[in-house]
Amino acid sequence: MQPGRQPSPETRPQPQITVLDAGGQYCHLIARKVRDLGVYAEVRPSDTSAAELRERRGIIISGGPASVYEAGSPTIDPAILTAGPGVLGICYGLQLIAHALGGVVRKGDKGEYGLARLKPLREHPLFAGVDRSESQVWMSHRDKAETVPAGFDVLASTETCAIAAMAHRERPVAAVQFHPEVVHTRHGGEILTNFVFGMCGCRRDWDPKNRIPLIEAEIRERAAGRNVFFFVSGGVDSTVAYKLCLQALGPERVYGIYVDTGLMREGETEYVRRLFQALGATAFRVEDASAAFLGKLAALTEPEDKRKAIGEEFVDVQDRVLRTENFLDANWVLGQGTIYPDTIESGGTKNADLIKTHHNRVAGIQQLIAAGRLVEPLSSFYKDEVREIGHELGIPDEFLSRHPFPGPGLAIRCLCSATEHRIADQGGCWMVPVRTVGVQGDSRTYRGVLAFEELIPEDKATDLVNQSLEVNRVVGRLGSHVPMSMMRVTRAYITADRLARLRRADAIVRALTHESGFDKEVWQLPVVLMPLGTGDLPDSVVLRPIHSVDGMTAKVVIMPQELRREVTKRLLEVEGVCGVFYDLTHKPPGTIEWE
Ligand code: XMP
Repeated sequence: MQPGRQPSPETRPQPQITVLDAGGQYCHLIARKVRDLGVYAEVRPSDTSAAELRERRGIIISGGPASVYEAGSPTIDPAILTAGPGVLGICYGLQLIAHALGGVVRKGDKGEYGLARLKPLREHPLFAGVDRSESQVWMSHRDKAETVPAGFDVLASTETCAIAAMAHRERPVAAVQFHPEVVHTRHGGEILTNFVFGMCGCRRDWDPKNRIPLIEAEIRERAAGRNVFFFVSGGVDSTVAYKLCLQALGPERVYGIYVDTGLMREGETEYVRRLFQALGATAFRVEDASAAFLGKLAALTEPEDKRKAIGEEFVDVQDRVLRTENFLDANWVLGQGTIYPDTIESGGTKNADLIKTHHNRVAGIQQLIAAGRLVEPLSSFYKDEVREIGHELGIPDEFLSRHPFPGPGLAIRCLCSATEHRIADQGGCWMVPVRTVGVQGDSRTYRGVLAFEELIPEDKATDLVNQSLEVNRVVGRLGSHVPMSMMRVTRAYITADRLARLRRADAIVRALTHESGFDKEVWQLPVVLMPLGTGDLPDSVVLRPIHSVDGMTAKVVIMPQELRREVTKRLLEVEGVCGVFYDLTHKPPGTIEWE
């Protein structure tokens, strides 16, 4: 966290539970689940000292990808295990406790990923009221504890994991190898409840809605008589933060600028304008920078180049606005929609995304941050909590529940190619040399697309990608004006025409999926333009409906056939569109966006 960014204590109580982050993608999920129980929880680095955690009622040690026996892996202060508060180790957390107290942790012969059945061996308050005879748990580990430390009992095991749960005989210290925080663990909620209330004796102290008056008081204190200005994105976080400032300071003291990059969806700029009007914003304006963005993108085809150009243009526009409109003067502070996971670097969420990173690189903004001239009313809250606060403030649910939309906008959904290519017949499917981004292991890939004439099962698609070094994505054709044998990869850049085509296609998909209610069944539904077609009809549209929790992983969702047919028919009417395809790749090995 940067200096001056610590939220002042008024908006949050003293945490009763601290989640120690051992590098797992689940650590924020654990803290969120505890908060959902009405108990305020925070995330801290795994090696936070016992002295700093003295006032906690409970400590949860998260999972993580490292091995406890390797140098440099996350550690804990062993004093937390005897200091008094309740301790729950989860996955890597169990291994850390075992290791710290003299148990043996080794790499297993094979990993255990997915569902397992828990075999109870001993009663313990952690499992109070849980019917363990049918308890299904979610496992994701390779290492395992082979012996428990002195003073511990094994509480449960699974087929391949002898120590699936353990606890100290006298102290309130317990650990589980499985993940109680994920929905697949059937009694996970009860286990966390038992820990938080039963073992730690926490009381309910947390309801984000009740904190609105405190947040407003904090805004007034931080603003200290000055005005607040925002670069709003039209996203949930900056909008809710803006509305809180409006309520706290009154409309004449809160200024908002929305940068129109020309890379937005159909009707978006008007939508945002109307929304802010309805929220009571009077000092709100749109900065039209679309010509500059288009100019910078005109000759680019590579994903990283496109992102870089967009990021730099954002920096330029914001810098210009800051200077020409005198926002660096002493009577202004910067408002931002930063939420809790953004403030924790090791949390490593996607939210610390490109645009925000570039945003914080604007010299003027850095100056303001360094000087502490910053209001971040939502920096203690998770996304769901921000939505709850937004709802309480009267912001329409239809807005609060919109699918996430990436900062670089349609530019990362408008695929380009500097040269023409033939597509190669591979016997039943086609190798399409349009490269898209993917993710395998911890690294990003940049590879071609395998196109089938019709939909194939998603698991088969994923197997195909895992076996290939040439492709990282599989699509199935829903329909096209010409057979695939007549299509080729066309030479294509980001142009006003292609953006208009993509915008139209995206609007059609949005309208039809909204009418049918399908949009509620997916977490996100990117619509992508791929340069595959003929001279007259140079592009194809790809649908990418997925389900996800946080964007880190994603599963393909298949649209009902009737809707697929209607969407395809309407998309084939769009000018310049040759074919319609369906992305069948989970993440990993694909990413959500094609870039
Ligand atoms: P990927 O493509 O990495 O995307 O699987 C995961 C999630 O992140 C979103 N995304 C972004 N959001 N700025 C954003 O605000 C970005 O630069 C950006 N890139 C990807 C993407 O839409 C998905 O929800």
